[in-house]
Amino acid sequence: MKMQYNKIGKSDLLVSQIGLGAMSLVQGQDDTNSYIIKHAKELGINYLDTSDLYDKGKNEKLIGKLISSDRDQWILASKVGNRWKEDGSGWDWVPSKAYILKAVEDSLKRLNSDYIDLYQLHGGTIEDPFDEIVDAFEQLVQQGKIRYYGISSIRPNVFINYAENSNIVSNMMQYSIFDRRPEEYFPRLEKNGISVLARGTVAQGLLLKKAAQKYLTYSVREVLEIQNEINSIAKELDLSSVSLAIKYPLLHDPVVCSVIGIRTKEQINSLGLAIEDLTKIDLNTFKELINKMPEIHYSDNR
Ligand SMILES: NC(=O)c1ccc[n+]([C@@H]2O[C@H](COP(=O)([O-])OP(=O)(O)OC[C@H]3O[C@@H](n4cnc5c(N)ncnc54)[C@H](OP(=O)(O)O)[C@@H]3O)[C@@H](O)[C@H]2O)c1
Repeated sequence: MKMQYNKIGKSDLLVSQIGLGAMSLVQGQDDTNSYIIKHAKELGINYLDTSDLYDKGKNEKLIGKLISSDRDQWILASKVGNRWKEDGSGWDWVPSKAYILKAVEDSLKRLNSDYIDLYQLHGGTIEDPFDEIVDAFEQLVQQGKIRYYGISSIRPNVFINYAENSNIVSNMMQYSIFDRRPEEYFPRLEKNGISVLARGTVAQGLLLKKAAQKYLTYSVREVLEIQNEINSIAKELDLSSVSLAIKYPLLHDPVVCSVIGIRTKEQINSLGLAIEDLTKIDLNTFKELINKMPEIHYSDNR
């Protein structure tokens, strides 16, 4: 089975159905990081997600270095809006045109690239100056510094406003078997031609074999029960649990990519098997499990 590719919204970006979240890459782990990027490419992964926020910009720098020889073969996504405080103790949300126009220059320098394929507003609030922000992104498209723009938001009142009143092509959302809150908003995103890039698809490993801990509204016991259910579905159908976690979001129309954070060689290797399994999984695979799970919804920013 080969990697499948999907178009992001109204863009001409054709992304692999599995994307690589760069946030888990560890600075200084050079051999492993090179291995991960090389193997991701061999698996057909072409989508890389980073941000100016991760490791205070060092994550972008790392990605810039790792893909310097074949930059044009990757669809590179980064994010903007959060500015580290001078003392490094945290960051401020800076929703202004001037900041976005300045921040993109810094990101391009770190990424060692003339352009970013998908530049995403890294959050946002309903109080932000919407027109000014959209104006900044439109200007960057005109200048060829970014190819498309999107948002990364789980605040319905924010992302729906961008979906309906701007040219965003995508929304990155935490979305997994555990966190099905985005589903309520899929029809409205689809209606506006907006694709979803799912992140947190393995719930930081909690959907796999990581020691259970509290997650969202789920208690440790509930997380453990769901892990056990997933492992027994995997065993019964002779599939890997990674493939089940990655495929669930992809079974919902606006989702074009399951983005997974990879830290180790073993984790990237596990995706090889997962690709083989993806076609064997459909919504029925999850029916019993989902029926047993509570329905959860976003409670704020609706
Ligand atoms: N607001 C935003 O825009 C936002 C927020 C968060 C993330 N993101 C993006 O989305 C990407 C993914 O998000 P995420 O890292 O939060 O979620 P994730 O993909 O669910 O979790 C990644 C973690 O899952 C574990 N993992 C991966 N493959 C595994 C395997 N085969 N077996 C066991 N464990 C495995 C690893 O944990 P260990 O490191 O513990 O081994 C890895 O660091 C990030 O890299 C980032 O690019 C965006």
